[in-house]
Amino acid sequence: MSHQSKLDRVNRVAWTTRDALREFTLEKRYTDRGEQAAFEWLAPRCAGLPLLDIGVGAGRTIGLMKSISSDYVGVDYTEKLIVLARQRFPGTDLRHMDARDMRELPSSHFGLVAFSWNGIDAVDYEGRVQILKEMYRVVRPGGYIFFSSHNRNGPGYGETIWKLLPRFTFNPVKLGWRVARSAVRLPVAGFNYMRHAPMNRDFEGYSIMTAAAHNFGIVIVYTTLREQRRQLAEIGFETDAVFGSCEGNRIADNAESSDAWWLHFIARRPLDPD
Ligand SMILES: C[S@@+](CC[C@H](N)C(=O)[O-])C[C@H]1O[C@@H](n2cnc3c(N)ncnc32)[C@H](O)[C@@H]1O
Repeated sequence: MSHQSKLDRVNRVAWTTRDALREFTLEKRYTDRGEQAAFEWLAPRCAGLPLLDIGVGAGRTIGLMKSISSDYVGVDYTEKLIVLARQRFPGTDLRHMDARDMRELPSSHFGLVAFSWNGIDAVDYEGRVQILKEMYRVVRPGGYIFFSSHNRNGPGYGETIWKLLPRFTFNPVKLGWRVARSAVRLPVAGFNYMRHAPMNRDFEGYSIMTAAAHNFGIVIVYTTLREQRRQLAEIGFETDAVFGSCEGNRIADNAESSDAWWLHFIARRPLDPD
């Protein structure tokens, strides 16, 4: 099995673990302030237009997206999550589909195509390009795409098993809770870390690395501001706005790097020349 398809196999398992299902069904509106800022930026520009929500998971973004427009389709390649989302949001158009191949969906149709919460990082680099090309195909000229991605220059890059050791505090109750939590997580996280860390690789502009989320159950792409902008431009997009995860600040168009944990990219398919 190739290095890349191994990454796909690892992450597909992670999405259906108890830890992932618990996290995806938390009553959380936004993942971070950057996501909130991005949605606020997009809402007036995409109001009433057809929306596509890729990697919808258990449905956290359904309410957010539908507050922009009721013309909504959600897709995910994890069947178990699509089934769960259908139970939680009956009557919503939710389809089992891999974002690398969305031929079932019409070209040049959607006003907004979103892939939230760093979902795009779960596929290898070729898969990422395929997804962005599919996003380009299905979004209408003048329409927007929105996705987030882990930042290789951010504090999350290079997480190791030590991250799961309990942080010291003088509060004995808190300390006890942290020690207990680590004791529960460490055996499975340690096992996953040993299995997945050998897949870590650095490339020009991006890295593939196991991350602490889901007990080191995922192996993901970390990219840079510069490389992501370059890749978007290569596919034909214009980058409109980038927001940092921590403060929800808009990152300057001429910034070369950022120290946010992850970055929210908004890009536009240019209007066709007349
Ligand atoms: C971190 S979860 C986020 C779920 C949801 N968007 C949310 O914010 O709660 C990433 C989701 O992306 C989905 N996903 C990853 N790669 C995908 C692909 N190639 N095609 C479709 N869905 C994908 C996973 O199944 C998972 O549900």
